[in-house]
Amino acid sequence: MGLTDTHSHIDMINLNPEEILKEAREYGLEKIIVPSADRSSFEKVIELSNKFDEVYCALGIHPTEVLKSDFDADLELIKKLSENKKVVAIGEIGLDYYWDKSFVDEQKKFFAKQVEIAQELNLPVLIHDREAHFDCFEILKDVQDIPVVMHCFSGSMEFAKQCMDKGFYIAFGGVLTFKNSKKMKEVAKNIPLENVLIETDAPYLTPEPYRGRENHPAYVKFVAQCLANLRKIPYEQIVEVTTENAKRIFKF
Ligand code: NI
Repeated sequence: MGLTDTHSHIDMINLNPEEILKEAREYGLEKIIVPSADRSSFEKVIELSNKFDEVYCALGIHPTEVLKSDFDADLELIKKLSENKKVVAIGEIGLDYYWDKSFVDEQKKFFAKQVEIAQELNLPVLIHDREAHFDCFEILKDVQDIPVVMHCFSGSMEFAKQCMDKGFYIAFGGVLTFKNSKKMKEVAKNIPLENVLIETDAPYLTPEPYRGRENHPAYVKFVAQCLANLRKIPYEQIVEVTTENAKRIFKF
């Protein structure tokens, strides 16, 4: 069984997709999900997933892009394009209070509406939550019947427990491998493995030992290795469980 990178912007990497995927296969990757950030990336992520068997995609408007979005038209487009079988989630969507807090109301409105659409379409949601744990949870806590994936999780153990109570999934990326990520390591050690996913968020947040370089999906291997070390279980078990989790969630 191979690795699954559940969050990788391969359309933003400075290499052609053939090279990215060749390297990914060499590192033992089996599947990659490419999320979108705005309308202009919808076509790109769908094209990539149509072209390559192991690539799947998610459609959504990222919280930092909501002011540039034509709300109703974009939501209609998401609904229409999600008929494609390679669209396996709505994302990435959520709240970002780190970059700009001047349009929180628009972010919340857009986020809530996209969660509603995901429920309508029966698709999982990929959540971007940056310094907005409480408000994200408020919008997600009543979600039913669809898996909720907390991408690039940055909360405390207490917040992780709240997420576990709701059956949410937590995805760990390159930051887990950083020396100073004590809080994240504690969460990664202690939550049930059945709720864990791994990802890269490439081209950002490159894991050790390549920190500082451009990130590639192949490097999800280092996240898996880190998780195996933290939990003191075999690497193969991490690969197997996280890929099984992804299969169950995204119905590959
Ligand atoms: Ni992302």
